[in-house]
Amino acid sequence: MTRLTRPDLDALPAYIPGRNPADLARELGLPDAVKLASNEVPYGPLPGVTEAIVAAAAGVDRYPDPGVVQLREALAQRYEIDPDRIVTGCGSASLCELLARSTTLPGDQIMYAWRSFEMYPILTITTGATAVPIPNTPEHEHDLDAMADAVTDRTRLIFVCNPNNPTGTAIRHAALERFLDRVPESVLVVIDEAYREFVTDPEVPDALKSFIDRPNVAVVRTFSKAWGLAGLRVGWLVAPPEVVTAVRKVITPFSTNSVGQAAALAALNATDEMRRRVALVLAERDRVLKAVRELVPGVPDSQANFIWLPLGDQAIDFARACESRAVIVRAFAGHGVRVTIGTPEENDAFLAVAADALS
Ligand SMILES: Cc1ncc(COP(=O)(O)O)c(C=O)c1O
Repeated sequence: MTRLTRPDLDALPAYIPGRNPADLARELGLPDAVKLASNEVPYGPLPGVTEAIVAAAAGVDRYPDPGVVQLREALAQRYEIDPDRIVTGCGSASLCELLARSTTLPGDQIMYAWRSFEMYPILTITTGATAVPIPNTPEHEHDLDAMADAVTDRTRLIFVCNPNNPTGTAIRHAALERFLDRVPESVLVVIDEAYREFVTDPEVPDALKSFIDRPNVAVVRTFSKAWGLAGLRVGWLVAPPEVVTAVRKVITPFSTNSVGQAAALAALNATDEMRRRVALVLAERDRVLKAVRELVPGVPDSQANFIWLPLGDQAIDFARACESRAVIVRAFAGHGVRVTIGTPEENDAFLAVAADALS
């Protein structure tokens, strides 16, 4: 039989987005369900964002600014980076993919810790590269020594997810510096800081401050999490000039839409409120961690807006038990369950189910 699609995709697990709470609520016959599965911040768009979106709506008959000049300038000023080294895109997930497409040829290797962000294996395969997943340590952290040891002359790209999704663990400055010193300059290291705004450990480095001037380091950030714009898909990267040039060649034109550009600019103007909301999440992170540690052994500290329950083979059953009580969490079969920190009421709903299902 002839086929229309690539055979190597057959073995590829599809990306599983968090379940839609409205669907679950309908299924259960309830007015609503709680979604703690996609690491969003639960407090709505930041002040000024909705107004910026409405204003931008009047111009959607035109293509957006392809250079994303205003937003890149605002980011450059805030983070003290050359705007020419910034590229924005349709979510940071797409930028990770573009970095892979810009650096690897079929047969080259892309390395990442595992478990980590589930897009890394998917984008590796679709790029035609070979995946080199390096198991996390028993403490659910990147095994940076094993990763450095596994670099070969085919390695072109390494993803370092800091803090790590889904385990919430974070790499400290000295360890990351030692790792970067060991990686040859011919390998691009992408430090994915999607959750940077939730980091409270002062020893976890801000890669934009600490490592961005290295010749083989790129940093990826997003407006989807702390900045409350997940629905508009705005991410950005900072990379060495040569990598920026390559990414600009492979990116789909106009992929940062005009409404997203306006909303991201407005969000940047609401930084104090972003920080206030992050502080609410962090207080809840402490509370939820303390409570789940009474129920599940070995829950690691989190530097992100979610926590990791290392439930192993119980993961799927636990997630089902949560869904049956209208709480959506994210299970990773055989590994564990990731639970986003929500509002205090949402977290209480989760803790009540967890206490029943696990004690
Ligand atoms: C580590 C990490 N990187 C990148 C992303 C992608 O975010 P977005 O494409 O919404 O910017 C996510 C989203 O969950 C993530 O967890």
